[in-house]
Amino acid sequence: MKKRKVFIGGNWKMNLNHLEGKEFVEKLLQLIRNNEKKEIVIFPPFTTLFTVSEVIKNSKIKLGAQNVHWEDKGAFTGEISPQFLIALGCEYVIIGHSERRKYFLENDEMINKKIKKSLSTNLKPVFCVGENLEEREKGETLQVIENQLKKGLKDIKELNGMVIAYEPVWAIGTGINALPAQANEVHSFIREFISQNYGKKISENLRIIYGGSVNKDNIKDLLKEEEIDGALIGGVSIKLNEFAQIINLDL
Ligand code: PGA
Repeated sequence: MKKRKVFIGGNWKMNLNHLEGKEFVEKLLQLIRNNEKKEIVIFPPFTTLFTVSEVIKNSKIKLGAQNVHWEDKGAFTGEISPQFLIALGCEYVIIGHSERRKYFLENDEMINKKIKKSLSTNLKPVFCVGENLEEREKGETLQVIENQLKKGLKDIKELNGMVIAYEPVWAIGTGINALPAQANEVHSFIREFISQNYGKKISENLRIIYGGSVNKDNIKDLLKEEEIDGALIGGVSIKLNEFAQIINLDL
């Protein structure tokens, strides 16, 4: 029995348009069993949020977005307000994913603003941190994570439902997942950081999930680790049967 409610997130990335996404969740709902032990959240692209939200209303699947802007409205061409996400029924939002850091030059300061705004709007951030291969090979993993946590959480007093996702960049989309013990070490480090900065009680309730090449075969061993409270799943979250199998796993 896990200490904290297991969080299974499906990060669809730039896949499934509003029609494909609708069909996908209609089928998914038919395949999954009611399982109160897990919280299931899917993160479709912005243009797919509405059709999916209509299908999953009153179901056990929750909705999240893959990104958000730090202002409510204004002259920010191409950006999406947290208020728009709330209006569609989003409960969570992914912030600081490594693909956004890498391809869209999102930096820690922007990530910090997005986290602050989301928390003040009652959107729960899924705050992503993770080292790249070079940093791991140089033995800098924990230093990199600490730096991302410090900067991303700067001046943030309360975490209100936040989830932290440890996603080593070298494991994302590569088919090479972190070993369970390897991930657990970083998760413990993150929990200790939160404990030192926010107190033991908050750190004990915080969910720290793992992301990077999670599939139906490796998830069980990952979740056996004490500090791993769930998974953020990319590629496999748009494979209907495999994702349903993961949701239905007995933990
Ligand atoms: P992956 O992606 O499962 O395809 O490795 C995980 C993520 O980027 O959140």
